[in-house]
Amino acid sequence: MDYRGLLEAAEIAARATTGQGQVADYIPALAAADPEAFGMAVATVDGELFGVGDWESPFSIQSVSKLFSLLLALSHGGDGLWRGVGREPSGNPFNSLVQLETEHGIPRNPFINAGALVVTDRLQSLTGDAAGAVREFLRREAGNPLLGTDPVVAASEAEHGHRNAALAHFIASHGNLENPVEDVLDHYYAHCAIAASCRDLVLAGSVLARYGVRADGSRMMSRSEAKRVNAVLVTCGTYDAAGEFAFRVGLPGKSGVGGGILAILPGRAAVCAWGPRLDQAGNSVAAVAALDAMTTLSGFSIF
Ligand code: DON
Repeated sequence: MDYRGLLEAAEIAARATTGQGQVADYIPALAAADPEAFGMAVATVDGELFGVGDWESPFSIQSVSKLFSLLLALSHGGDGLWRGVGREPSGNPFNSLVQLETEHGIPRNPFINAGALVVTDRLQSLTGDAAGAVREFLRREAGNPLLGTDPVVAASEAEHGHRNAALAHFIASHGNLENPVEDVLDHYYAHCAIAASCRDLVLAGSVLARYGVRADGSRMMSRSEAKRVNAVLVTCGTYDAAGEFAFRVGLPGKSGVGGGILAILPGRAAVCAWGPRLDQAGNSVAAVAALDAMTTLSGFSIF
């Protein structure tokens, strides 16, 4: 497969969206991103690495981190996690509070903010340092010891985090948090505020392309668990646009409001595209266009 040619075609499709969408500003520090930046990378299970544009520039990974906190919580704690968080699409925005009330503080899935807070809480119980566990995992898989949390973004999230605080307190009121709300929020913001590049994320995401095997060859989770995570990515990874993302791209994928989307071609590769302008659901316009072009031209998709 000519990955370089596919990336070049995907970049043309992404650049054609220039000017569409808005850079996230509800976390003020994110508004500093260059709206026209674009990068994309592919890491194959055979160890090849390709990139175009700003593929080595770090950006705020935001909700892409929720994939890694989930992988770590499952690998340390197993299936018990699913008692506190569901695996159904919410059909609502990523920061919505509405379903929590009628569903007794059990979030619909691990990728909406409410569910990710529960995952961070369990990872905190299992490791004593949830954000540190995510950071270390990313550093090791990417071979990048410089990767870390951007303290300015983390502080900005905390300062403007009224919705997340409301979600966490509501979940706690139902007895579905094991740690103090403030600790859970701090670790959640710290892993969302990690800065990493498309290069870093494809190397880290390859664990799912390899069905649960880490970069050093050790097994992080069973093949069946990796399949399950890919399934939740398909149904919930891009929130209330998961149907549209499956329609256009046809891969398991996780987006973040920093503009990154990490997608998995199971058994083949991990691919990450980044462009800071977002659509209404909080997914990058350029990254969706790039991934759409790539899977349409190559025929690679899970469908
Ligand atoms: O909690 C938040 O709102 C952010 N730290 C993460 C949200 C996010 O990335 C949603 N993804 N598209």
